Amino acid sequence: MSREVAAIKTPAPVVKPLEAVLQSLLRLPQLVKIHQPNNKILRENVDVFKEALRAMWKEGPSEISIRSHRGRLYLGNAKYNPPSAMTVTVQKLMEFFEARGFFGFKLAAKDDLSDEDIVSFIKTVNLCQTREKPGAWLDESLAGSWAKPIVDSDFKIAFVFANDSEGNAKGRPLIWNSGTKTFAAKARRSYSRALAVITNVQERIREGDTVSLAKSRRVVQDMVESLFQEEKLLLNLSTIRDYDDYTATHSVNVGILSMCLGKRLGLSKVSVVTLGLAALFHDLGKVDVPIELIRKTTKFTREEYDTVKNHSLYSVSRILQINADHKLKTKLLQAPFEHHLGVDLGGYPASNRHAPVSLFGRIVAIADHYDALTSSRSYRPVPMNPEQALDTMTSVSGTALDPLLLKVFINMIGIYPIGILLVLDTREIAMVAETPPDAIDARPTAFLLYRDDNTIIKGDLVNLSDLDENGKFKRNILRCFHPTDFGINASDILL
Ligand SMILES: [Fe+2]
Ligand SMILES: [Fe+2]
Repeated sequence: MSREVAAIKTPAPVVKPLEAVLQSLLRLPQLVKIHQPNNKILRENVDVFKEALRAMWKEGPSEISIRSHRGRLYLGNAKYNPPSAMTVTVQKLMEFFEARGFFGFKLAAKDDLSDEDIVSFIKTVNLCQTREKPGAWLDESLAGSWAKPIVDSDFKIAFVFANDSEGNAKGRPLIWNSGTKTFAAKARRSYSRALAVITNVQERIREGDTVSLAKSRRVVQDMVESLFQEEKLLLNLSTIRDYDDYTATHSVNVGILSMCLGKRLGLSKVSVVTLGLAALFHDLGKVDVPIELIRKTTKFTREEYDTVKNHSLYSVSRILQINADHKLKTKLLQAPFEHHLGVDLGGYPASNRHAPVSLFGRIVAIADHYDALTSSRSYRPVPMNPEQALDTMTSVSGTALDPLLLKVFINMIGIYPIGILLVLDTREIAMVAETPPDAIDARPTAFLLYRDDNTIIKGDLVNLSDLDENGKFKRNILRCFHPTDFGINASDILL
């Protein structure tokens, strides 16, 4: 009873058990370092962790597995899509694991779990940092304990495969290749860092805090380095849209697509960094648009649309508030201001200007169009596939979008490049073989792929332009992947 009264007086923010567990895993090592075991703050935090664990054990499996894999966090075998408030915690937690040479934790249900059990676990985790092989040391030290580090890199995410004509599953699903620290992993890491940085910038701005440009700049510089080494990786990452937070993902994708286009146009590295930052911040002003409007699924009224249209102007004033070198800041203003302005000077913000839209403005407009069309939005849950998107964009070439830059962009996206993996609406996975000259809407031919034990089997060559008896396409493309995501060498399949 008394607890209920206290809860009414000071309502605590509602934190889900999983979120509390993740926050605790990050917070407790620090608290244990600075406080004595009987310290009040430490005890309270241990309590939160304990209660959250109990709630999770009660609701779910008796062993909680939290693992970082290729820049994403997994709970068991399921990908965890963090709400925006958790993005930074998740990113830091993954960096915490990585710095200690393991992938995560397994926390097995323990009926009589005590505060001491928790403190001793966290102390051991802290100690591992001083060891030569922290992951292996921790694994040995916690052997038989309720909490253990995950040290094996063997992690499988299964895909469901099509049945053969008799209805039997053909082979076993493909798995993600795991563990290897490839260049792809580096690109992936810089992608999720960018996501965390932009989420943090948006949050701090919303709360009225001062934001500095340093972190965003570092992360963009990182991406530009990746880009100048291997363009395709980042480009493909920007087309894999499995993050929850639309605005943050959109900002990062528009950043990447703009930088790729900038590089194609022969801009210098320094210019590409500036372009990337401007693109990353193009929709920053959306923090000033009421969230109900951003999430609205039905048509806007005229007043509502006018409010939404203000976001380009708001972006400019938000960028002005960022703590940064004045000269650089002025270079970041134009593209966000112009990103909804057509080359015909239609669009918004409306003005009497005659000056043409700047190069950065025209680049960001193309990237913005493409990402908006190919991702699901509150008002359009089913996104367009690349060819539909490029088609739609071609229809506004010369009015909204710069025709020449659009050509370069279409060339760059290459719709379905040879060797790319496709996930089809039949749940099959296929590898693009070629795009025949008579293809409908650039639909390629592709080899179906199957898995038998550890071998990838090349299946039939199918033509994605093929129609069924009702005149509909037999197969449609849902998503594209880089073959290295599955540990596949394109040349092994195609040559
Ligand atoms: Fe916008
Ligand atoms: Fe946008």
